Amino acid sequence: MPDRSLASHSDVGVQRLPKSLHGSGAALKLTGPWSLVNNCSSKGSTVSEKFVLPEHQRPTLKHDEYTDLEIPVIDVAAINNSLEGDATAKEALVAQVREACLNWGCFQIVNHDISEELLSRIQYHVNRFFNLPFAEKMKVVKQDGSVAGYGHATVKNGDVRPSSERFFFANDGSVAENAQKLWSNWDENDFIGSYSEYYEKVHQLSESLMRIIVQGLEVDPVHFEKYWKNTSGLLLWNFYPACPEPQKAIGINAHTDFNLLTVLHENNVGGLQIEKDGEWVAVRPRPGALAVNIGDTLQVLTNAKYRSVPHRAVVNETQTRISVAYFHVPVQGIDIVPHPELVDEHNPNKYEPFTIDTYTKIKQAQTLNTLELFLRTDTRDNGVVTIEAQSHTT
Ligand code: OGA
Ligand code: NI
Repeated sequence: MPDRSLASHSDVGVQRLPKSLHGSGAALKLTGPWSLVNNCSSKGSTVSEKFVLPEHQRPTLKHDEYTDLEIPVIDVAAINNSLEGDATAKEALVAQVREACLNWGCFQIVNHDISEELLSRIQYHVNRFFNLPFAEKMKVVKQDGSVAGYGHATVKNGDVRPSSERFFFANDGSVAENAQKLWSNWDENDFIGSYSEYYEKVHQLSESLMRIIVQGLEVDPVHFEKYWKNTSGLLLWNFYPACPEPQKAIGINAHTDFNLLTVLHENNVGGLQIEKDGEWVAVRPRPGALAVNIGDTLQVLTNAKYRSVPHRAVVNETQTRISVAYFHVPVQGIDIVPHPELVDEHNPNKYEPFTIDTYTKIKQAQTLNTLELFLRTDTRDNGVVTIEAQSHTT
């Protein structure tokens, strides 16, 4: 992505650190807005006030409250088969992905080509980073106007802070820069190597997924290619410390992703929840599986045939949860408009055109139901199209 100055995810904001907390040294006392780790995860205590949600906003579904209602699990071994090579397996895959997109807006994939060895190496680096002393992590704090860096989810006026930390990577020089700030022997520690290997793999996987998704729509693929080819992505590490009173807090608030599609790796601790027909559903983590979800811009390109799924992360009392999200971001600078073949008199174009540059700025202020701001008034008024405002407070 050429322009790194734009925030490209809903929750990239970071509060300014009070001057007194700059610098390092063992005597640094972690009070103030950044005392997340110390307070929320301290044993035997109650959760600090700043993480306590008003009662009506608290998640009632626990991190491991799985039911028989499960998101589809799709074997993607045939993802790069040529249609001529093994037409049957590929066609079956396209059909499964299509069903999952129509009914869920998300699915888990197995038999992708990202090895468990690479995933555990990434997990090692995630754990290593977040377990650094706070002052060390602050060396790479996200600066205003930058995408990359350490922080936590944006807190808007009146919002309670989510109980999580995060580290954003734009695929640019900042990765090496930040690594050097953190570890003088960074090369030896294989941080850059693992990062790049994972980025390349997940980027290619996302391109393959885009191809499969578009194939299932049975339209001319060229319109979609403008947005997903030769684009770049963002990586985000999420860290959710165990929380003494998880039922009172949230790891990441209900939101939809701003981008085309997201591929998420998580450790073996539940916490991801998605919304299905107005109900929250806990996603069961599966070793080696990756979760895929549709983002807002793919919703627009399909004229809402496929919907970006609202999701959130809850925390638990005993285990630290980590996740690594890869956001496949549409090419910048071009208007995002529905595929013409998905627009007709029964399905009029639902959205005003916008660029991803504009959208990411707006997304920072509103993380859920953001596309409603771009609904065309003509379709809104005649009742043909409504995308309901939903309450996500269960
Ligand atoms: C995100 C996200 C969910 C998770 O980073 O956008 O939705 O389970 N993460 O960490
Ligand atoms: Ni998300």
